[in-house]
Amino acid sequence: TVKVPKDKTIDNTLAIFKDGYNFIPKRVQNHHLDVYETRVLGEKVALLSGIEGAKLFYDTSRMNRKNALPKRVLKTLFGEDAIQTMDGDAHTHRKLLFMSLMTPDALQELYEITTKNWARFTKKWSSMKKVTLYDESRELLCRTACEWAGIPLEEKEVKKRTRDLSNMIDGFSAVGPKHIESRRARKRSEDWMEDLILQVRQGKLEAEKGKAIHEMAMHKDLEGQPLDARMAAIEVLNVIRPLVAISKFIAFGGVALHEYPETQTRVSLDDEYLFRFAQEVRRYFPFVPFLGARVDHDFTWQQYPFKKDQLVLIDIYGINHDPKIWGNPDQFNPERFIDWDGGLFDLIPQGGGGYYKGHRCPGEWPTIEVLQASFRYITKHLGYDVPKQDYSYSLKKMPSLPKSGFIISNVHFKN
Ligand code: HEM
Repeated sequence: TVKVPKDKTIDNTLAIFKDGYNFIPKRVQNHHLDVYETRVLGEKVALLSGIEGAKLFYDTSRMNRKNALPKRVLKTLFGEDAIQTMDGDAHTHRKLLFMSLMTPDALQELYEITTKNWARFTKKWSSMKKVTLYDESRELLCRTACEWAGIPLEEKEVKKRTRDLSNMIDGFSAVGPKHIESRRARKRSEDWMEDLILQVRQGKLEAEKGKAIHEMAMHKDLEGQPLDARMAAIEVLNVIRPLVAISKFIAFGGVALHEYPETQTRVSLDDEYLFRFAQEVRRYFPFVPFLGARVDHDFTWQQYPFKKDQLVLIDIYGINHDPKIWGNPDQFNPERFIDWDGGLFDLIPQGGGGYYKGHRCPGEWPTIEVLQASFRYITKHLGYDVPKQDYSYSLKKMPSLPKSGFIISNVHFKN
């Protein structure tokens, strides 16, 4: 029998910070199996990579999400007891609620709201000396997200809400003040949204059917009970917070358009190329490094004895760059998607598997929509210069981002 490779050291928690996005690829991809054993925070952890690893991770008969996420992540990024932590029928029922928001009409509307906001921001930017695309697109997306979700946003609160929604994302892995601020951002955001949910239920706030705030406020669980107002608030935040996070892909996309100027004309004109470009941005650039689940019951897979409740991590970044899946994975090449078969376990920046039974991100279509609207607008209507700056990004810092946030200057309407 072949031996399952393991780390020899007692604990590799620090290696996660040292190796960053390459923590799992560095270990698993050099071996013959798709599984590798290490120890993190005192636990024996199985690392999974490759298409086979992804299939196992998303097999809900063998993996679950109960206690898969550390408290510090729930207190900042996701919110407690929300969809990310659910399993089985309760999860499927909650997931349908999210998926019901993603109709073709709703996605079209999201594209249009995004485009409208790009036009509005371009006007504003034309009087600014320089614009940090990452910072500005966060506010652009906060406005877009709230309008799309049916959430009223007063002019004087836009900056604060934008800041809180992004701090929830950036603070979960931090320590010290940044982490504490992230917890506060979550509390403020939940308070804000819970109040709005109550207003919708009391008929004080009008919300159109099909809008996230309306659907979450009116949703009934499997027992026919409405969600606790706090829970409904958390799930609305699970729609608008990640919409703001798309700003990271927009900043990376700005870098790609600049580094590969030959892509610009086709992004501006060719709908199929625009789609491939957005897919390649999601594949190529580092965002989510890995995800966790727990083993449902003892079983053996690729010689490895998985133990009930053991923590398992799937190599999100590594699978998007796996040389066994992608030719020249470290080359930015939208054309690779010409003959892509839409596999559920290869392009997994937002999780893998199906949408309905597993935890794959229900916001994948909205993300693609927002990215297409943004990259189309940038290449078609936005004139700008790229001043000297350091827009490189690190694979050690998680989550990663172009260091400068991608700065542009001399912004003007092209047409
Ligand atoms: C789940 C990434 C945008 C809503 C996830 C997961 C990832 C992810 C990695 C976890 C998959 C898993 O646990 O197996 C991203 C990225 C985004 C993005 C990188 C773009 C920047 C969105 C958007 C929405 C959204 C726009 C809502 C409109 C959710 C929800 C879940 C989720 C509700 C939990 C699903 C579940 O547990 O069943 N996302 N996402 N995401 N995402 Fe996204």
